[in-house]
Amino acid sequence: MIAPSVLSADFGNLARDIDMLNRSACDWIHCDIMDGNFVPNISFGFPVLEAVAKVATKPLDVHLMIENPDRYVTRFRDAGADWLSIHWENNRHHDRVINQIRESGMHPGIVLNPGTPVEVLMDLMGLVDYVLLMSVNPGFGGQKFIENTYAKVNRLAHLRMEQGHRFLIQVDGGVSAANASKLYEAGADVLVAGNAVFASPDPMAVIKHLKEA
Ligand code: DX5
Ligand code: ZN
Repeated sequence: MIAPSVLSADFGNLARDIDMLNRSACDWIHCDIMDGNFVPNISFGFPVLEAVAKVATKPLDVHLMIENPDRYVTRFRDAGADWLSIHWENNRHHDRVINQIRESGMHPGIVLNPGTPVEVLMDLMGLVDYVLLMSVNPGFGGQKFIENTYAKVNRLAHLRMEQGHRFLIQVDGGVSAANASKLYEAGADVLVAGNAVFASPDPMAVIKHLKEA
């Protein structure tokens, strides 16, 4: 599956870009929420997310890179999120927030930074619908893909099989035609792509190409 990242869209023509995604072969629409604290960048918040939700006909996958995500779970649901992921690194009560997300009617996901080993998920992976492995340090679009991600996806896919779980494995950061098929082979189910899609003169063709990789 492919989830293009709105972070790289043209915010002056947001409705046009979301309409393009509606007509494309993409599966989800990935929205990055950054607060300037957990990551060194600020992206957008509720008003923009609501504007995306108004036009989007595909599920919204909201990736929270913010402190205290537990405070905002229902607000994100009300703003239109269908899938909601929180980082492992800035949480003490994962189990609680994951349950809160599910009880609010969304699919819960947990995200790992490049330096966090997949083994920390041992007692959490049964609770989530997806695990997002960052293949760049979160905060910005257009960064270089970290090669170690293939091995990490592979280890997580093995753990998933061993433990008999069914969560999806998502990869985010520096995804392009150069690494998509290798990521699928390693066990990834959903690829997020920002720059590769929106910097192209033909975004719909890139999405189709990434999906078929
Ligand atoms: C990075 C974000 C990504 C970003 C991906 O912190 O989580 O979703 O938009 O952009 P690309 O594909 O350009 O690396
Ligand atoms: Zn993201």
